[in-house]
Amino acid sequence: MKILVIHGPNLSLLGEREVNVYGKLTLEEINAKLQELAKTEGAELEIAQMDSEGEIVEKIGAARKNFQAILINPGAYTHYSIAIRDAVSSVEIPTVEVHLSNIYAREEFRQKSVIAPVAAGQISGFGLNSYLLGLRAAIAVAKK
Ligand code: DQA
Repeated sequence: MKILVIHGPNLSLLGEREVNVYGKLTLEEINAKLQELAKTEGAELEIAQMDSEGEIVEKIGAARKNFQAILINPGAYTHYSIAIRDAVSSVEIPTVEVHLSNIYAREEFRQKSVIAPVAAGQISGFGLNSYLLGLRAAIAVAKK
């Protein structure tokens, strides 16, 4: 089973960026934990970080025949990218949306996800565990 993991804009700065909100782990450390879990669950991951909306849309579109699930933290695009939402609904690959922070406990503009209605589900607020729980959920929906 192959799962595509997409980290959106500014997530390459994790570990330095707003550590009080996002924690001290770097993206490399999060990716290593994801790979560890994937190995024990028998899943293969392709992991990509992209700042640009267009690249994310292209990546999702190209995933169609090659992946059984997508795990995505769309970063700020969560709140307004209809292009990413349309990409997710077009490819019909079960997609799990994750956030390190609890977006519903933050500024009003973050309290809405335009992606969530077309995702299989969303996990928000558990730091690294959002990703790990999200990966477990992605594996489970891919098996269905
Ligand atoms: C985030 C939440 C978003 O609002 C923010 O723009 C991010 C990170 C999170 O993981 O908590 O870049 O997606």
